[in-house]
Amino acid sequence: MKDFRSDTFTLPSEGMRKAMYSAETGDDVYGEDPTANRLQEIARELTGKEESLIVSSGCMGNLIPHMIKGGRGKEVICAPESHIVRHEIGAVVSLSGTLPVLVPSDNGIMKAEDVEKNIHGYAYDMSETSMIETENTTSGLIYPIDTLRAIKDVAERHNLWVHMDGARIFNASVETGISVKEYASTADDMTFCLSKGLGCPAFSILSSTHEFIKEAKRCRKILGGGMRQIGILAAAGIYALENNVERLKEDHEHRAMIAAALEETGWADVRISSTNMIFFASKYPIQNIVNAFKKKGILFLEDGGMGRIVTSLNVNDEDTEETVKIIKEMDEKEFLA
Ligand SMILES: Cc1ncc(COP(=O)(O)O)c(C=O)c1O
Repeated sequence: MKDFRSDTFTLPSEGMRKAMYSAETGDDVYGEDPTANRLQEIARELTGKEESLIVSSGCMGNLIPHMIKGGRGKEVICAPESHIVRHEIGAVVSLSGTLPVLVPSDNGIMKAEDVEKNIHGYAYDMSETSMIETENTTSGLIYPIDTLRAIKDVAERHNLWVHMDGARIFNASVETGISVKEYASTADDMTFCLSKGLGCPAFSILSSTHEFIKEAKRCRKILGGGMRQIGILAAAGIYALENNVERLKEDHEHRAMIAAALEETGWADVRISSTNMIFFASKYPIQNIVNAFKKKGILFLEDGGMGRIVTSLNVNDEDTEETVKIIKEMDEKEFLA
């Protein structure tokens, strides 16, 4: 099977497993895991922030800033398509008590002026805005750096915190050549994921100021994310940052090849093709298309009424070429079943 469902399905490579096997460990809740500490130091340098903290998942990395800087009954400005709104079971509402305020966006990318229009200051009967959330990449799309800077300027003028969900920030960075540090400078805290295109079994990393990370450690503990000998998993993270970042470009090339094939078909209307993701609409029911491709050994998902194809470590050059061939040869009648 050629698996295009998500980059979260990536499996640790042999080299990664070897690094995990030989990792030094200690009790990370006491800050004594040397491998976890090394990974956090690498992340701190990469993001240019004062301190970095390993968290269990991307969801935890998004929730903690809402707990610390959002606040109960406070408004957080974000795009309607954002992961915190669509795919995190309402955790920011139920656990941190923040109120997401959804501003108009172009497939998840907000404009600074729309952000500013939706900021609420103090009024006796209104909730106040406390935070702005950006997501980069969002559905595979890269936030223009100037837009991120403009949003940060708005935030500074209104004394608001900016959290960036940078789950796939390395995809943005290898594509544009803009460093992760530069992207991170447009937010007060940023989380990125090791468990997606970078191919690790787990973990995300939250980076910000010393003060914020001190509080984030307490939130992580509250959420059940204080873990002990995590060096075994942190070693995978170090391996990924040393070996799997530049190769994300290959995933982007594979995405471009597949998108080009889809565009020629007549049955796929490609709406998004960027970094490692494709979203396409069709005159046929998407689930029928998904089922027809599954019969030919190609897996992808229906997401929000569109077909979603994600390239990752799961597919190499040969798999991509075969997929392109299957797309070109696909008989539309197969979608009528
Ligand atoms: C943009 C984005 N943010 C956050 C997450 C959450 O990550 P996790 O599944 O590790 O909780 C995901 C997961 O796919 C994501 O795509």
